[in-house]
Amino acid sequence: MIIAPSFLTADFADLDSEINSIQFAKWLHFDVMDGRFVPKYTYNEEIVKRIKRISSQFFDIHLMIETPEKAIVGYASAGADLITFHLEATNNNTDNLIKLVKSLNVQCGISIKPKTSVENLVPYLAALDLVLIMSVEPGQGGQKYISESTNKIQFLAKYRRIHKLNYKIEVDGGINLETAKIVREAGADIIVVGSYIFGRKDRKAAIKELENA
Ligand code: DX5
Ligand code: ZN
Repeated sequence: MIIAPSFLTADFADLDSEINSIQFAKWLHFDVMDGRFVPKYTYNEEIVKRIKRISSQFFDIHLMIETPEKAIVGYASAGADLITFHLEATNNNTDNLIKLVKSLNVQCGISIKPKTSVENLVPYLAALDLVLIMSVEPGQGGQKYISESTNKIQFLAKYRRIHKLNYKIEVDGGINLETAKIVREAGADIIVVGSYIFGRKDRKAAIKELENA
């Protein structure tokens, strides 16, 4: 599996060394929060621009914001390789948002919160590069994996196989060695990990452990 560290729980006072400590991960996951879609505010595209200068990793932007239509162009020019917005924040404009992201030569993902049923994604799956299953309530790190998320991953893996589609399945929230194994067996391709990596001194070891989970 691909590990996408989310430095939501990182020490922002020492950003360069924090980024350095996870340089072994192929992806970097940016948890963008606007204080409206979720209670917390994290950062804007300026951080992405700044880190793009020192990292050649794959930039995976997760927009937990109410108005993704206003942010997509900014994150694309800041260096996003993939932009994921929330199905719950598209106010029935989902197809246009997918078109907008792809028109900027950026891969497109859609994320759903724990309470949103995975069947709601079906109309869009053929057009997507990625689906992001939130396995915790969006808004903060360090929460416990919600076990119902496993069925959603299995549904998406099965649907992809039957319909010969190739969207990636990413899981975000409460991932540790035990849940990494569960989601891999269910069909996940990428895991977003915050506290399990940033809580450790030896982050390279934590990433290696998760890659082999
Ligand atoms: C929730 C965040 C977290 C974060 C991962 O909105 O998206 O899920 O990325 O945090 P941990 O790995 O600490 O659950
Ligand atoms: Zn995320």
